[in-house]
Amino acid sequence: MFSSKLEEQLNHQVSLESKASALYLSMASWCEKKRLNGAASFYYAQSDEERQHMLKVFKYINEMGGHAKVPSVNPVEAEFSSIKEVVERSLESEKTVTSSVHHLCELAREVQDFGTLNFLQFYVVEQREEEVLFGNILDRIELIGMEGQGLYYIDKELEALAKQKIKTEGLA
Ligand code: FEO
Repeated sequence: MFSSKLEEQLNHQVSLESKASALYLSMASWCEKKRLNGAASFYYAQSDEERQHMLKVFKYINEMGGHAKVPSVNPVEAEFSSIKEVVERSLESEKTVTSSVHHLCELAREVQDFGTLNFLQFYVVEQREEEVLFGNILDRIELIGMEGQGLYYIDKELEALAKQKIKTEGLA
């Protein structure tokens, strides 16, 4: 039987993925306004990907006989001081999501729901990849610097990452 505690935590996961999708959409908008079009493409793709993550958990809850709940929409930050801050905030957000995924795994193990534990492995792998991705982008920003033509090259790097992501994740 589907544990109600697990159902509640999975619904919490839905809200975190939804919040991440909204945050990345807001970051895409900020980048676009700053004429950082490569970074904007990257964050639009990132936002789409988080929505897919949200839907995957959402559908799983109902499939298991639970009730998936649509999370309330809270305002997200719209202003950032720099692209570096945008990426730092992204990494911070991913770390919060990772903690929640790990907590869910512990809970699934505790209630001996091995099917859900298996379902969650996708998120364990995904979170590791996302943290590495944002960590690498921060390293590149440190290396390239944001002075002079630095911003232009950072934007180009994010544009390349966006193209890669759209292709590998099958995003529109
Ligand atoms: Fe799906 Fe990156 O949290």
